[in-house]
Amino acid sequence: MTMTPATPKGRVHLVGAGPGDPDLLTLRAARLLEGASLVVHDGLVDTAILAMVNPAAERISVAKARSRHTMQQEDINALLVREALAGRDVVRLKGGDPFVFGRGGEEAEACRAAGIEVEVVPGISSALGASAAAQIPLTHRDHASIVSFVAGQCKGLTEQDWSGLAGKGRTLVIFMGLATAAQISEKLMADGLAPDVPVAVIENATRAQMRVLRSPLAGLEALVSSHRVKSPALIVIGDVARARGDLADHTIRALALEAGK
Ligand SMILES: C[S@@+](CC[C@H](N)C(=O)[O-])C[C@H]1O[C@@H](n2cnc3c(N)ncnc32)[C@H](O)[C@@H]1O
Repeated sequence: MTMTPATPKGRVHLVGAGPGDPDLLTLRAARLLEGASLVVHDGLVDTAILAMVNPAAERISVAKARSRHTMQQEDINALLVREALAGRDVVRLKGGDPFVFGRGGEEAEACRAAGIEVEVVPGISSALGASAAAQIPLTHRDHASIVSFVAGQCKGLTEQDWSGLAGKGRTLVIFMGLATAAQISEKLMADGLAPDVPVAVIENATRAQMRVLRSPLAGLEALVSSHRVKSPALIVIGDVARARGDLADHTIRALALEAGK
């Protein structure tokens, strides 16, 4: 009896696409895109990055929006597993870093459970891309030595314990917090944060249409609605979010003092 040889399994590459600017892709990510035969990408991936994909590759969008899930997470996991079991190498392209609020952990688990080899290629998380592009340092020897990342979407927001994450010497970065901006500022003020703590909202970080908006914590919701801020945007809370001039002046003064000693 002749045995049909089993189809060799493909691999799944979970690839971070960074915050938007194609120049911020890793070399590994760029090489995988150039050589890809199948790319499964989510909605946050910039069109300029999709333009770098091998033109012969099949592209599947599994775009997600807050209230409109094009494809459920279980279906995305099943798609990756099915294609890899059929012998295809899959490039799963995700905004920012796959393991920062990107559900990369769930996809990797599903693939490993099916015996599929997974490679994870880190990307520049939007928190880091936005910090650099807006010149808001997340840590600063004079202002913050602790940084926390939290998700601000509605589900479970009230139960989340953020106490101690924001305040003096700390920077809080909130992903997906636009729709809950009012609850976020109320929650933080109920935890004891002063209403005048500086806040910056960075929309479309690293992209041509980037905006950086600032207000005190108590004005966060008014800022978001009056400027019609749209996703994707990050909220940065803490002294580092103060207008850049203040920080620069302070740093220049400190350098001048140091130079004069
Ligand atoms: C599902 S999370 C994905 C985060 C991603 N894995 C990362 O590391 O940046 C989506 C959220 O990331 C933030 N985000 C992603 N890209 C952004 C950008 N270019 N500018 C500002 N915020 C961004 C927004 O808060 C957005 O709602």
